[in-house]
Amino acid sequence: MSIQVVIARPNFPEVIERLKQHFDVIDNQQDRPWTPQSWSEALTHADGVMTTGADPVNQVVLTNAKRLRICANMAVGYNNFDLPAMTAHGVVGTNTPDVLTETTADFGFALLMATARRISESEHFLRSGQWREWRYDMFAGTEVHGSTLGIIGMGRIGQGIARRASKGFGMQVLYHNRSQLSPEMEAECGARWVDKATLLREADHVMLVVPYSAATHHTIVEAELAQMKPTATLINLARGGIVDDAALAKALKERRIAAAGLDVFEGEPTVHPDLLTVTNVVLTPHIASATVKTRLAMANLAADNLIQYFQHGRVLTPVNPDVLNAPQRRV
Ligand code: GLV
Repeated sequence: MSIQVVIARPNFPEVIERLKQHFDVIDNQQDRPWTPQSWSEALTHADGVMTTGADPVNQVVLTNAKRLRICANMAVGYNNFDLPAMTAHGVVGTNTPDVLTETTADFGFALLMATARRISESEHFLRSGQWREWRYDMFAGTEVHGSTLGIIGMGRIGQGIARRASKGFGMQVLYHNRSQLSPEMEAECGARWVDKATLLREADHVMLVVPYSAATHHTIVEAELAQMKPTATLINLARGGIVDDAALAKALKERRIAAAGLDVFEGEPTVHPDLLTVTNVVLTPHIASATVKTRLAMANLAADNLIQYFQHGRVLTPVNPDVLNAPQRRV
């Protein structure tokens, strides 16, 4: 029987062609929206699937998709996977680390700069014909170079941001993470571990790059916002749900912090309506890894995982590697 692979969302035609050389491919180049039911039904006969972070692989999907053996996420984060359920069903999950690290770190800096220097707000002012004169205080923002950056989450992307901050912008970098980097890595990143309260109190800019999990849900709520400087900015590059968006919108409106830059949102693509009305926030639609080169590398890595799995029984970047060594899959 031929192997069926579903590609959940539109993707590079060349990557789809590559997969077609190996599999019966069902693509979604028309970008049909999925309902929970149609998504589950689409996987009924699938042996493999290429997902994005917006495509849930949960108990319901797994129970229906009896042939499914591999879910290749085109994302480094994989909180769309119910990993314990996948492991129990013997389904391997893969992600796309490394290929997006530097691109995402670049974007973290872009969002930090845009937020601190009020770029979106000032562009909107110009486009709407309000610019009449030069003024000493017009869109005066917050200094970036030489200031203190606090990074919560110090994986590969956090480290990339720290290097940019310390080496390129002469920033003092504080970080908070479950595990501390080696002294050599701290020196390379120019970063110092501190507890979360110290980071929130001392940072001029707080950057979130921690993976989403039950443990990191609402890492930043009203209490944390209250600990930040009134001049501080908050950048969320990580996942929706790490920040309580309603509490953030309120803090921004009341100017309890200066500004925020958000690439991810609780319940995205829906954005909390209060965030859409406050002006001191830069909003982008989850595009931190979006350069053509990096998105192509992500798609090819996800495709490589599918091909390697069905050709050789192994994958390049597993997130539940134990499944590969377990006796034949599916309970
Ligand atoms: C994007 O959010 C990713 O996890 O790659």
